Amino acid sequence: MQIFLDTANIEEIKEISSLGILDGVTTNPSLIAKEKKDFKSTIKAICDIVKGPVSAEVIATDYEGMITEAEELVKISEYVVVKIPFTLDGLKATRYLSDKDIPVNMTLIFSPNQAVLACKAGARYISPFVGRLDDIGHDGMELAIQCQDIVDTYGYETEVIAASVRHPEHVLKIMENGIDIATLPHKVVMQMLKHPLTDIGIEKFLSDWKNANK
Ligand code: G3P
Repeated sequence: MQIFLDTANIEEIKEISSLGILDGVTTNPSLIAKEKKDFKSTIKAICDIVKGPVSAEVIATDYEGMITEAEELVKISEYVVVKIPFTLDGLKATRYLSDKDIPVNMTLIFSPNQAVLACKAGARYISPFVGRLDDIGHDGMELAIQCQDIVDTYGYETEVIAASVRHPEHVLKIMENGIDIATLPHKVVMQMLKHPLTDIGIEKFLSDWKNANK
């Protein structure tokens, strides 16, 4: 299972990267805007830390604009993956970029039908948004599982990134269902680290040790 961090915050990325468990990073325009820093230099800084796939999203919504932005983004670093929203123009742009060996992460995937089209267009990654479907009363994890089934059944080279992950229970389901990648907010990685019985266990070991060595 690959773990990506879903953030544009350099400190968070440095911290998780230093644990040696980080495979990549995903950003989106909202996450970039939150940091109030220059887009391209932020992406460059992330790539230099992660040295793995880093998704940077286009802002343009038209085919030509997406291609122009994508070609600029991949100049930033060999690790840049162009993130393209799932639209008709996005699909066309994905096919064009994939044919040029530029990796694309098709984002805002909300149905298996969108997922299969993205795979057929040559997307390197597809990102079903789990939490945002849960938010409107659907089963977001079901979509991520369907995406993985499509990829596995037809043998696409696309990898599935379960995105919009909100809590450790989501991560558990991602693992149970063999989904390729989970992109996690920093907070969720921290929640995964924690177990009260580990803390209680350490406390007990240390107090037993102290008592025995009085
Ligand atoms: O990066 C895309 C996705 O993970 C966003 O998550 O929590 O804003 O739905 P969220």
